[in-house]
Amino acid sequence: MYFIGNWKMYGDFSSIKILKSINSSINAVTKKKDKIIFCVPYTLLNFFSLKFKKSKIAIGAQNCHHLENGPFTGFVSSKMIKNTGAKYVILGHSESRNLGEKNKLINLKIKSAIKNNLTVIYCIGETLKEKRNKDTNKVLSKQIKIGLKNIKNIKNIIISYEPVWSIGTGIIPKIKDLKKTITFIKSKFSKKYKNKVKIIYGGSVNPKTISTFRNIKDINGFLIGGASQSKKKFIDIIRNYYK
Ligand code: 13P
Repeated sequence: MYFIGNWKMYGDFSSIKILKSINSSINAVTKKKDKIIFCVPYTLLNFFSLKFKKSKIAIGAQNCHHLENGPFTGFVSSKMIKNTGAKYVILGHSESRNLGEKNKLINLKIKSAIKNNLTVIYCIGETLKEKRNKDTNKVLSKQIKIGLKNIKNIKNIIISYEPVWSIGTGIIPKIKDLKKTITFIKSKFSKKYKNKVKIIYGGSVNPKTISTFRNIKDINGFLIGGASQSKKKFIDIIRNYYK
């Protein structure tokens, strides 16, 4: 199982305390195969990657430019992220899409990240309006089709289904709807990958809601926003998942 924290635009050098504290409790609650990843602001990538190099915790970024170098003031490329020691990158998060990022551009970013040996956490999901219009499947299809265009090997891609209306709201999907959506996402992949594609869920995952997700066997993990900034909440999510 993947338990991935997305710190968004929070955290500074002193936040190392939170990760150190999580690190000291992590072996007691996880299984050997579990992957624990924290996607943190660019400013912390190198510091955290070095500090946790020999631990169960891996570090990731939250976006990247689609090219490796160039006259792009203010941006950071996947090649640079790799150079910090980070191993993962979140791409296509709704908070980046909200600022105008489109599937076509995200596709170029994914390709660049894979080329630079990063594992991509590719976020897809519908807005409340799209859900109300019953457009969820249409939106997801487009995000998968265009976002993953010409990407033959999905070994280094984790799909994170994050309904936008669930992010930061405390509202989670109905289990039957979530099961259907996960099956739908799987159906978008070729026979070869259908049962190999890793799908995680994000949106209001906390120590309470996690028990609801426990019974969906097709979910390979969770992308955790707010609750990943608290040692107690993050550890309790994992503990309650395995209860
Ligand atoms: P919350 O867990 O705070 O709802 O955020 C989810 C998210 O955006 C993960 O990427």
